[in-house]
Amino acid sequence: MNQTLAIIKPDAMESGKAGKILAHLEAAGFTIQALRLVSLSEAQAAEFYSVHKGKPFYDQLVAFMTSAPVIPVILEAENAVLKLREAIGATDPREAKEGTVRKLYAESKERNAIHASDSDANANTEIAFFFSNYERLGVD
Ligand code: CMP
Repeated sequence: MNQTLAIIKPDAMESGKAGKILAHLEAAGFTIQALRLVSLSEAQAAEFYSVHKGKPFYDQLVAFMTSAPVIPVILEAENAVLKLREAIGATDPREAKEGTVRKLYAESKERNAIHASDSDANANTEIAFFFSNYERLGVD
């Protein structure tokens, strides 16, 4: 078993889809290991997405991620990183496969309902961004 980080994004929060998305992920075989509701500051969103700094969509991404609360959640499963990326589908919901979270719930490439870590290394970094060890099950 290993862990990855998902973030339910502002568009899904504002349209009342957070519960449906969490239920979808549980039905897909993930267990929730930690969960918070947070309002990101501009500095926090900029840091979280610093890998995208300089890209044309960066400023809009930071503005979007601070526009409403978000739910970061640690999910556990076999091959959690790959499994979650498959479960959420392509960045652009128009390209996402049927039955994926983004196909079902995302509005657009920019307002795409959910974030998922893209590697085990980034999962560890992103989990540590939102959660201290005492908030995580099974971590001393
Ligand atoms: P996410 O998985 O959170 O990682 C980076 C985010 O940038 C991505 O999802 C999209 O929501 C957002 N984004 C906006 N425009 C683009 C783009 N042209 N290419 C990739 N990501 C984009």
